[in-house]
Amino acid sequence: DLSSKIQNTQFKNLFLNASGIHCQSKKELEELMNDHYSGGLVTKSATPNSRFGNPLPRYHSLPAGSINSMGLPNEGFQFYLDYVTHSNIQKPTILSIAGMSKEEDLELLHQIQDSKYQGLTELNLSCPNVIGKPQMAYDFASSNQMLKEIFAFFKKPLGIKLPPYFDLVHFDKIAKILNQYPLSHVNTINSIGNGMWVDVEKESVVLKPKGGFGGIGGAIALPTALANVRALRQRLNASINIIGTGGVTSGKDAFAHVLCGANMVSIGTQLYEEGLGAFQRINNELIEIMKAKGYHSLDDFRGKLKEQ
Ligand code: DHB
Repeated sequence: DLSSKIQNTQFKNLFLNASGIHCQSKKELEELMNDHYSGGLVTKSATPNSRFGNPLPRYHSLPAGSINSMGLPNEGFQFYLDYVTHSNIQKPTILSIAGMSKEEDLELLHQIQDSKYQGLTELNLSCPNVIGKPQMAYDFASSNQMLKEIFAFFKKPLGIKLPPYFDLVHFDKIAKILNQYPLSHVNTINSIGNGMWVDVEKESVVLKPKGGFGGIGGAIALPTALANVRALRQRLNASINIIGTGGVTSGKDAFAHVLCGANMVSIGTQLYEEGLGAFQRINNELIEIMKAKGYHSLDDFRGKLKEQ
């Protein structure tokens, strides 16, 4: 049994798509909605208006992961709000938003608050790929101020997408801020920002935007992702759930995320590379591991990572 919960939302399965993967167009969303092995659906981070995103090439497969600089291509906020409120909803949804400024984020959240949408919302404070726009979640004071303004009016379940942190003091700082607010969840990690890949034969970068700098995902991000899930689970209020994202290519990786404390696990690069079949394969691999260990539910081992 891989059922799991985020606050009061019950998911029949542990797995989600990572935002941005297979969730931009209506067709992709429908395919996700109909997939038996994903527990819920996360939408592509929406901006107020539709965007083409950055110039191509903007995604490149690496030997053990990926690098991307998509630049928020999306159909615009109304499209995703319509999808999660009007479609034939068969599983819980997470509506992801990423305004281009604090004012835009607040405006989108007001629209969600005033809509009939009752599912989870996720505010993306960590997109690394928009030219000239820093990742809000690396600015602790601004993040705190923003959350203060949001929770003054926003009364629906809200989580935030975080970038990876790399210093234990930063985990202390962000957790202290987040613990002041009634967040449904944090989703950690977004891609490891502004990596670089070199095509040695061509002596060139591999992405067109931003001179080749891009967010790193996939297997190479797993240790950073596990560290962020673990460190935040050790610091956040129990009422704040964690969606573990980053580096999951197998049932073993998903098991590790849950051991670190993940309530849900999302799959990004591997879903892009393998297609929706990744959900069924990883699901089956996780169930086999649990069977071999005699575990019946995720609660049997969630957060129970041992220290040496
Ligand atoms: C994009 C990348 C991200 O990591 C994110 O959180 C949002 C958008 C992008 O490049 O489209």
